[in-house]
Amino acid sequence: MDRFRRTRFNPHLRSLVRETHISVNDFIYPLFVRPGEGIKTEVSSMPGVYQMSLDEILKECELLQSLGIYSILLFGIPEVKDSVGSDALCDHGIIATAVRAIKRAYPTMFVVTDLCFCEYTDHGHCGILDHVHESVDNDLTLGISAQQALVHARAGVDMIAPSGMMDGIIGTLRDALDGGGYPNLPIMSYSTKFASGYYGPFRDVAESVPSFGDRSTYQMDPANRREALRESLADEAQGADILMVKPALAYLDIIRDIREASNLPLAVYNVSGEYAMLKHAGNAGLIDYNRVMMETMIGFKRAGADIIISYHAKEVAALLH
Ligand code: PBG
Ligand code: ZN
Repeated sequence: MDRFRRTRFNPHLRSLVRETHISVNDFIYPLFVRPGEGIKTEVSSMPGVYQMSLDEILKECELLQSLGIYSILLFGIPEVKDSVGSDALCDHGIIATAVRAIKRAYPTMFVVTDLCFCEYTDHGHCGILDHVHESVDNDLTLGISAQQALVHARAGVDMIAPSGMMDGIIGTLRDALDGGGYPNLPIMSYSTKFASGYYGPFRDVAESVPSFGDRSTYQMDPANRREALRESLADEAQGADILMVKPALAYLDIIRDIREASNLPLAVYNVSGEYAMLKHAGNAGLIDYNRVMMETMIGFKRAGADIIISYHAKEVAALLH
């Protein structure tokens, strides 16, 4: 008789036959930088996640490296927001300043910047509004995105991650970077990004709730599987170096689809609402937090992810130690 369970009795053998592994090297940890000094404000919807001033960000980088985390995804919350997101277009804006300081203090930190306008605009949308103020003007936004990419590049960023889902953004940024003297700077595209309720807590921390409407004219309908694939493959064709699925938990089938359709590296964004659900359930004693967290991370890798962007990264790193 066939004994499928035979390999499960011995813990050593269980680990020998394990098909999926997670490592601290799989993770990118998101950080939120804001102006000021000595500021470290916890976000109530996301216990353990903070808005930090640059001095606190630098201390955090020290801690991250001590845990073995050498990749961060940086978001900026500017002092002043306006209709076009000027702070994001300035070499002395919050992100450019932060990237310079981090790379100076921690040259071995791999710094990725989120490239979008929703944290910088007073209306909270991911680009410049169209003339009827109904939604974002795609092509006008492409123009300023190219400027923004060069701001990040000049500051010394290691990789840019455009998250606004504008059509043609990858080709536009690739041309801008190549033309600007940065042909080796990689682009991780938020290539398949759904219009999701799971971003709720993020918009608290990034102070980027749209003042009207929603993002469904530029982000994807959660019901669409073929379109999800089309979006990622279009970004691959335009020169994306890494693709992404976001959110992660409700979209494991999409991760698998893209993994099978593309040979590019694939990232998943384990978003704010997903983090908040586990965190609050854990704090309420409803689940074994560490166990559920690790099981979730294994699920992402098993589905086909190479890279996991997660607010859990520090806790995962500590457990893997
Ligand atoms: C900005 C951006 C968002 C997230 C990452 N980049 C929010 C949004 O699109 O509304 C969400 C991340 C999270 O929920 O953790 N475009
Ligand atoms: Zn945005």
